[in-house]
Amino acid sequence: MLCIDLSGKKALVSGSTRGIGKAIALYLARAGADVIVTGRDKNRAQDVAQEIEKETGTKAFGFELKLDNPEAIKESYDEIEREVGPVDILVNNAGITKDKLFLRMSLEDWEEVLRVNLTGTFVLTSLVVKGMIKKRFGRIINISSVVGFTGNVGQVNYSSTKAALVGFTKSLAKELANRNITVNLVAPGFIKTDMTQNLPEDLKESYLKNIPLGRFGEPEDVAGVVAFLCSPYADYITGQVIHVNGGMY
Ligand code: NAI
Repeated sequence: MLCIDLSGKKALVSGSTRGIGKAIALYLARAGADVIVTGRDKNRAQDVAQEIEKETGTKAFGFELKLDNPEAIKESYDEIEREVGPVDILVNNAGITKDKLFLRMSLEDWEEVLRVNLTGTFVLTSLVVKGMIKKRFGRIINISSVVGFTGNVGQVNYSSTKAALVGFTKSLAKELANRNITVNLVAPGFIKTDMTQNLPEDLKESYLKNIPLGRFGEPEDVAGVVAFLCSPYADYITGQVIHVNGGMY
């Protein structure tokens, strides 16, 4: 029987207190990894970690990790390394939207989204990678979005960050390949989470019409692919984009 075994690995998932990140943390734990659940609220992260530990029997830890402040990222990651040890698997999942039509988009709207989605990812990855280089092992998965490839009305800031993650992934993959660190990108389509639940119904309907598989994605649809990319079955895959969107792109 083929199965994914990540026992002995430590996996950090940014923004894993809900939605796609939480599903990813749960799937990696089910595969046997110790998981580090992180989010803006430490208590919430610890509650989710406890939930995962109870369900899977593997170790799960909860930490505050706010991606909008480089100093805070460093402080949090130092604490994580001290208490849990260096990380083998990093999933850069946390991301925010601040949707506005371009003509109404302020510099603040632009910078806020870049700070979390792009600079936060850069800072966290640069801290984590040092330990991976020492171990000569690492799996980095970045979560992009279909809109980084198609564009979307009202999302010039967000889609710019998601497209930028493609270049980030492909360049980093080349730099780190000889250290046995792979870097890949998963680009979800429309997934049912807090991020998408408040979109107007007519907009959701029009998205659904463009999804050949005829349904919106579930967080688990993304989590399974991330677990695969962390597994030995994906050891020879790096610098790639995997689209998880029901065929819409
Ligand atoms: P969500 O809004 O449900 O969850 C986002 C997570 O990021 C939460 O845990 C939140 O606490 C965390 N977060 C937000 N701001 C943060 C900050 N400043 N510092 C640290 N953590 C922060 O979103 P969802 O849908 O689970 O999205 C996860 C990732 O997937 C995001 O990068 C998103 O862009 C991407 N994605 C989502 C799609 C969807 O349809 N839901 C489609 C394509 C991509």
